[in-house]
Formats: sequence, structure tokens, C-alpha cells
Amino acid sequence: MKKFICSNCGYVSPKWFGKCPQCGEYDTAEEVIQKRKNREGNPSLFLNLEDAGEISLERLSTGFSELDRAFRGGIVPGQVILLSGEPGIGKSTIALQIAEKFAERGLVVYVSGEESPQQLKLRADRLLMKRKKNILLTLENDIDEIISSLRNERVSFMVVDSIQTVFSSDLGSSPGSISQVKNVTMKTIDFAKKRGVPVLLVGHVTKEGEIAGPKLVEHMVDTVAYFEGDRRTGLRLLKITKNRFGPSDEVAVFELKENGFVQVENPSFTEGDTDLPGNVLTCVFEGTKPFVVQIQALVSKNRTFSPKRVCKGVDVNRVMLLIAVISKYLRLPIETHDVYVNVVGGLRITDPAADLAIALSIVSSYLEVSLHDTAAVGEIGLDGRVRKVYNINRRLNSLKNSGRIIVPPIEEEKKGVFVVRDLKEAVFIIGGEILGSPGID
Ligand code: TYD
Ligand code: MG
Repeated sequence: MKKFICSNCGYVSPKWFGKCPQCGEYDTAEEVIQKRKNREGNPSLFLNLEDAGEISLERLSTGFSELDRAFRGGIVPGQVILLSGEPGIGKSTIALQIAEKFAERGLVVYVSGEESPQQLKLRADRLLMKRKKNILLTLENDIDEIISSLRNERVSFMVVDSIQTVFSSDLGSSPGSISQVKNVTMKTIDFAKKRGVPVLLVGHVTKEGEIAGPKLVEHMVDTVAYFEGDRRTGLRLLKITKNRFGPSDEVAVFELKENGFVQVENPSFTEGDTDLPGNVLTCVFEGTKPFVVQIQALVSKNRTFSPKRVCKGVDVNRVMLLIAVISKYLRLPIETHDVYVNVVGGLRITDPAADLAIALSIVSSYLEVSLHDTAAVGEIGLDGRVRKVYNINRRLNSLKNSGRIIVPPIEEEKKGVFVVRDLKEAVFIIGGEILGSPGID
């Protein structure tokens, strides 16, 4: 039976179509060449679960202990990692640095659909790479050609830079189209699994949210890593959002230097001027690692009928919820003010333990009171209570250099640590006497 696939949106139809009924594009139907099925049935198609081989869980170091930690000990043979990020963030650089480490173990194949060998050499020189010999470059962008020419090679690692530039001649569409990106990923995964070769697939994401972006293949690969960062500080965060071989939500922090990336074991997401109103420190967990971050808020009078809520590094919906709680339980007119919240240093936080710090930074800016090096940890409920968070002792330890720490009830008393049950008590500690006595009334 014939099968046609839309190269734009992936719509599948048994009939040819001039205009895709799903996305409305013209001339996007491509015939998929299908293998003839054996009508008699094929017993070797199935495998007894008991006879299934085992995946080697040997962990191979990437050369960066922080990245190995995020990958839970390193990369597993046959693991397919999708590394995505905006152009210029450093994907090719880190890929080449990891490639250098794998070149110690054997042949590395670097499929470069974006840059010439000269450009790659220039990067390698800049990275002061010693082991260039074991790295094979190819400008070939037909995935079938690449895989078949590696038939007899022992490959220790492969980089495909990027999935948007490689194609398979099974399909007639151009590289970068939805069907090509999916097909190339599928073939690469097949190669990785059959040969036990770890593969790094590089994918570009653009601000406009390009349709044939790496998101499309996230469900197919073992591991999804996002590279993001703050161009101003030079810090880059490699966030693992999915990992079949370990926990997700781990983060490794790097700094882009003159000669490539160096890992940062104890990054600082603070600016040092926590004395100004609107600044509060907190400690969030990204995976298994605590990060000290500085939250900044600015509350200003709104001159229109629709107050602004602008957030960087934190979910705007979370901030809106906190604004509602502050307005209701502290009887402050924050809802009618513009509120800007920023997480210093480019980290994007999702840990609800930052709630109290966000709320206090908003209150501090509104009241124009300095919190003098205050840190706060705690999740805020819709009832205005401050809830306990996990790993409180590790968070307290990370924040030990701050002036005072405001936390939900803890087991033992500590110097400089103030326990609060609700938002009102917390505001009372930071000098919000103007608001009356503490406690929920
Ligand atoms: P690149 O890896 O080419 O980004 P991507 O593949 O994600 O598009 O990185 C580009 C940036 O990195 C570029 O602005 C130059 C900078 N860079 C350094 O700062 N130091 C270095 O050693 C290297 C190789 C690049
Ligand atoms: Mg690149």
C-alpha cells in the first residue's frame, strides 16, 4: 500500500494530496517507500523478553565532572543526546570539547553540516585541542551514506551538527523539514543502538519557535539537554530535561572563556548589592544541586488600567499568584501596581522554595525597605502560609553567608535563622511593622 507524508507537518495519508488537509501547505506530499511485508509472517520478528540483551550501563566521562554528574556518571554507550539551544550559545564548542575526550578512547565522527573543516579546525585550535587525529570530519549530509561508510569502523562517539542539515534520500524533502528531521533522528538512533555508539545530536532553536525544531524529536531520544545562558555574565547552563539513564532536571554550569568552556562548580547568581530594596537571596534546587540566587523585584505605580507583570527567570503565573496572596493577606495594593521580577544571572527557576523570596522582594520594593542581605526559603500556599520545603538543611548551609535567613518551621533552632509560619510573620521580620501585628487573622 502506498503512503504519503506531508513534509511540512508530518500528516500521513494513503492518497496523494495537492494541499495538505492538516497544515494547508501545497506540494508537500511525499511518497514513503515502504518495505514489502512478508505475508507468511516472520517468527524472527519477535524476541522472548528473557532473551533480550542487556544495555551496557558503563558510564563514559565527558571530560567535565559537572557534566558527568548531570548525566549521572557520564554517557552510556548507545545513548542518544539531543543538545539544543539558540545559535551562538556554544553547542558546537561544547560538542567539540566532549569529542576530544572521546577521541582518547577511539574514533570520533563529527558530521558538520554547518561549518567547513577550516572553521572546525579554527575552533579546535582555539580550544587548544591536542587530540585532533582521532576526530574524523565529514561534510556529507546524507545520513545513509554516513552510516554505511562507518560499517567497518569502531566509532567511540558521533556528533551530528546539526540535525537540521542532515537528510535521508528516502524522502524527497529538503534537510530541515519535519519529515527529514524525524527520519534522520530515527536512523541515528538505530545506528547508536545497534553499534553501541553514543551520539550527540545538535539542534537549533530559534526565538521564533521554528516548526522543524528539535522539540519534534525530543520523545525519540534518550536524553534532552538545553543550553541556555546569560550573554552578559558568560555563564551557560546545560539543563537536562529528560534522561532515560538517570534523573532529569539536573544542571551543569559552564563559563565560556577564550579557550572554550570551563565548568563552574559553585556558580554565583548574585550581584552583591543585596542592600537595595527589592533584593532577596534564596536557594533553589536544580536536580540534586543547590544554587544560591538573587531575586530582584521592582514595584511601581501603574499609570494605565492594566498593570504590567514582567518576569525573567521565573514563571509569570507563579508571580501573579504570589501577587494575589500578598494583596489579600497583607492588604497591600500590589494588584494595581506594575511588578517586574528578575532572577539574577540567567538561571530559570521552577523550585517553589523560591516563593517566599519572590514575595518578600516584591514587598520590599513596594515598601522601599532594604532587607540588608536577607535570604528566604519557603513555598507559599494560597492561604498565605509558608510551607516546608525539602533539603532545608542543605539550603541553610548554602545560604550561611547571608545576614539572616527566613524559613518555614524547622527542627532545631539556628543562629540567624528566623522561623515563620506565614507571609505576615515574614514581613514583620523584615520591618513591615507598618502592616500591623504578625500572624494570619
Ligand atoms: P558556537 O559553539 O559556534 O555556538 P553554536 O554552535 O551554539 O551556534 O559558539 C559560538 C560562540 O562561542 C562565539 O560567540 C564565539 C564563542 N567562543 C568563545 O568565546 N571561546 C571559544 O573558545 C570558542 C571556541 C568560541
Ligand atoms: Mg554550531
